[in-house]
Amino acid sequence: MNLPVEPDEWEKMTQGDSTTATKAAESAATVESTANIAFIKYWGARDLDEVVPENTSISMTLRECRSKCHLRFSPEREKDEVWLELDGARVNPGAGFSDRVTAHLDRLREWAGVEGGIVVETWNSFPAASGMASSASGFSALTCAFVLALGLEPTPAELSILSRRSGSGSAARSVFGGYVEWGRLGDGSAEQLHPASHWDLRDVIAVVETGEKEISSRDGHRLAATSPYFERRLELLPERLETTRRALREHDFGALGPVIEEEAIDLHLITMSSRPAIYYWKPPTLAVLEAVRDLRSRGVAAFSTMDAGANVHVICQPEDEETVAACLSRVQGVVRVIRDGVGEGPRRLD
Ligand code: DP6
Repeated sequence: MNLPVEPDEWEKMTQGDSTTATKAAESAATVESTANIAFIKYWGARDLDEVVPENTSISMTLRECRSKCHLRFSPEREKDEVWLELDGARVNPGAGFSDRVTAHLDRLREWAGVEGGIVVETWNSFPAASGMASSASGFSALTCAFVLALGLEPTPAELSILSRRSGSGSAARSVFGGYVEWGRLGDGSAEQLHPASHWDLRDVIAVVETGEKEISSRDGHRLAATSPYFERRLELLPERLETTRRALREHDFGALGPVIEEEAIDLHLITMSSRPAIYYWKPPTLAVLEAVRDLRSRGVAAFSTMDAGANVHVICQPEDEETVAACLSRVQGVVRVIRDGVGEGPRRLD
């Protein structure tokens, strides 16, 4: 059964009932969810623990950067078990990752009113924790697997809120496919602006770093307001958000592209001017940015964006994807090029 991903389908579902605890004892679910790339970034939080963002963000859910999560209730266990599948082997992911997963499972168990150990096995199709939103795909997959294993039927807004409470704000957006906005609704949930079928945009990712980034997004959010440019960006955002919404609505790539790039540079301007400063860029990051500017000077409509990491996402239309991918693969320091595009959101695999 596929997870329904469009809001109208979700709305038909109702909230779980008191039979939940019984079902928990015997159930499992496997869900695949994908990362998203923010066109307008979430950067800085009013409340980091409750994940209340300073600003509204808009993203495109991807289709190739996937996290798969198999979750199994195992009531005889006292402790949760968290496994990562890496190169075909089942490995212990290390305390940092396991603790984050377990903390989220505690929140979910409390929300659902269930008890007992859980076994989680996860897998990523792309480098984790290197600014490619693996926590967005990972935690949205985990949240969806949990509720589906219990047979619960939350609304998309509830799923979004639950995913967000993992600490990964971007996970709130990954429960929807297509183009997604987060920050406008009072309940803290994200909402789908358009389904994936609305506009076939591509994201060609120049991977220049596959290791874990040194500074987490959480630390970046915490330091954001120490930048002298933080307030200025917030002043600029309403117009930028409106341009993005309009460009998405009207398929206006000429208007969307420059805003995406400007916004990414502003994010990094803030990280580099935070106190202490955070430099997510590596030398090949700049080389890719230059290559994209060069492509534009030759008439190729391609625009760069980066999350909190060194890798560069190049947004373009289908007719330019080949040219962009070929160009990026020639840039020194690019270790891999991932050809991605707008995706449908989470789906159940079992
Ligand atoms: C720069 O707190 O959602 O990617 O969960 O660690 O990926 P992770 O980060 P999160 O912050 C995301 C920051 C961003 C911009 C964005 O995706 O909006």
